[in-house]
Amino acid sequence: MGEYKDSLHEFEGDSDFFPPPPRHRVGRERIHIQKSSVCSRAYFVVVMAFFHLYIINIIALLLYVHYNTGSGEQDVPLEKSAGSPRAVPAEHQTPSSTAHLSPEMSFQLPRLEGIRVGHVQRVSIVPDRTHNMRTLSLKPLLFEIPGFLSVEESNVVMQLAQLKGLTHSSLLTNPDQEEQLTQDELFSLLDLNQDGLLQREEILSLSHSTDGSWLSSYNLRKIHTGLETNPSGVLSLQEFKRVSGGVLRYSGAAQGLDGHTKVRQRSTHTRLYLGEGTHHLLKSVRNRVTRLTRLPSSLVDLSEAMEVVRYEQGVFSHAHHDSSPTHPDNSCTHTHLAANTSNQVACRYLTVLLYLNSADSGGETSFPVADNRTYEEEVLGDLSQQYCDKGNLKVKPVAGTALLWYNHLSDGNGWVGELDEFSLHGDCLVTRGFKWTGSVWVNIDPDQQRQERYQRLVSWHPEGHSKTPEHGDFHQDL
Ligand SMILES: *[C@@H]1O[C@H](CO)[C@@H](O)[C@H](O)[C@H]1NC(C)=O
Ligand SMILES: *[C@@H]1O[C@H](CO)[C@@H](O)[C@H](O)[C@H]1NC(C)=O
Repeated sequence: MGEYKDSLHEFEGDSDFFPPPPRHRVGRERIHIQKSSVCSRAYFVVVMAFFHLYIINIIALLLYVHYNTGSGEQDVPLEKSAGSPRAVPAEHQTPSSTAHLSPEMSFQLPRLEGIRVGHVQRVSIVPDRTHNMRTLSLKPLLFEIPGFLSVEESNVVMQLAQLKGLTHSSLLTNPDQEEQLTQDELFSLLDLNQDGLLQREEILSLSHSTDGSWLSSYNLRKIHTGLETNPSGVLSLQEFKRVSGGVLRYSGAAQGLDGHTKVRQRSTHTRLYLGEGTHHLLKSVRNRVTRLTRLPSSLVDLSEAMEVVRYEQGVFSHAHHDSSPTHPDNSCTHTHLAANTSNQVACRYLTVLLYLNSADSGGETSFPVADNRTYEEEVLGDLSQQYCDKGNLKVKPVAGTALLWYNHLSDGNGWVGELDEFSLHGDCLVTRGFKWTGSVWVNIDPDQQRQERYQRLVSWHPEGHSKTPEHGDFHQDL
């Protein structure tokens, strides 16, 4: 304190000796100069610091971009070689157009983009035209594709299902004559390769339908015997009519004699194989599903057969999931061969639901929690009919329209992840008429290695020559 006072006095004393104004001014200027120089240095430091940060940011950004495109470039060939050759080819897949991938490289399953509800995108599912695909919901990822089948094609699928035979339905208990086939139609449906002749294989392909009601085993045997005794080994339409005379009439009688149940089942179903040797329309359905989903064709080819269901008036189905939760103790029904667990569950990555007719009234497909903010099972109650009224999203059946939805989320690495709880759905009550649907499921094991093992196992036992290369390819994809 004392020193301070002294120096203060000294200063004051100094000011007495020298003329105050100039001295003062110099002092002030000096102080000003010093202040401003201190200030500018601070500014300089701050500015430089920001400048460096800025430069470092830019460099980091450039490095980031460079690094990202670098790893992206590695991804592109994989995707191109794995995805595009499958997605691009038309109805006929070209086995030769495959790049070779080592099995260790992880294959990414293509997944369609929903963008937003109501978004419409053009998709190519048949070679000569495009279809509109509209996003109906994002949770689950659900699309609607009108005109997936023409009305005529839908009719043929229904007829094929009837020909194969719907479980629990019979002619006797269903006097509706409109669904009966003429002999010409029957011949056409039996003639899988449409060459105007019935080969032995084409007739035998029906022998699996022991549950069928359209061709009883008696009639099947009759046709088969007719073919065996025919010197040419094939049946023309005329010969078919001769040996199968009254097939449909006998069919009803045979059912009665067999003592088949006369209780009219309310919902009936059958399975239609979509693979080699089947009706060309069914093969086309398979190809359309492949093109729509952009999945490797062999994944679709190895999936379960299409299920055709007829819902009668007064019928509904409870809300359910098509696939099962992923669980290490479970193995998929389709890859069970390659697994070592006892629990078998259905693993259906996605569903393509085809409306084969437009139900007169009712029969909507309801997604009770579609795009809801949360999923709470308790709120849904017993998941019976009532969910239909409460349903967030209801789709009216229109002949030929297809719905596509993913039953599983992605696992983040381009493979099948958890079951999407939001894919819950059910069929509302059919209030008038019939509803016909066809369900195509693409089976993929959430365990990628098991799926690969299964593919390898299957490819060792090719069923047909034409299949071998495709299966071969698929390994390389995986
Ligand atoms: C299957 O599992 C059992 C025990 O859980 C094991 O002993 C057996 O070696 C396994 N088989 C294969 C083929 O992995
Ligand atoms: C739908 O979302 C709302 C709001 O989050 C929630 O209260 C309701 O329980 C959800 N409904 C179902 C069925 O989960």
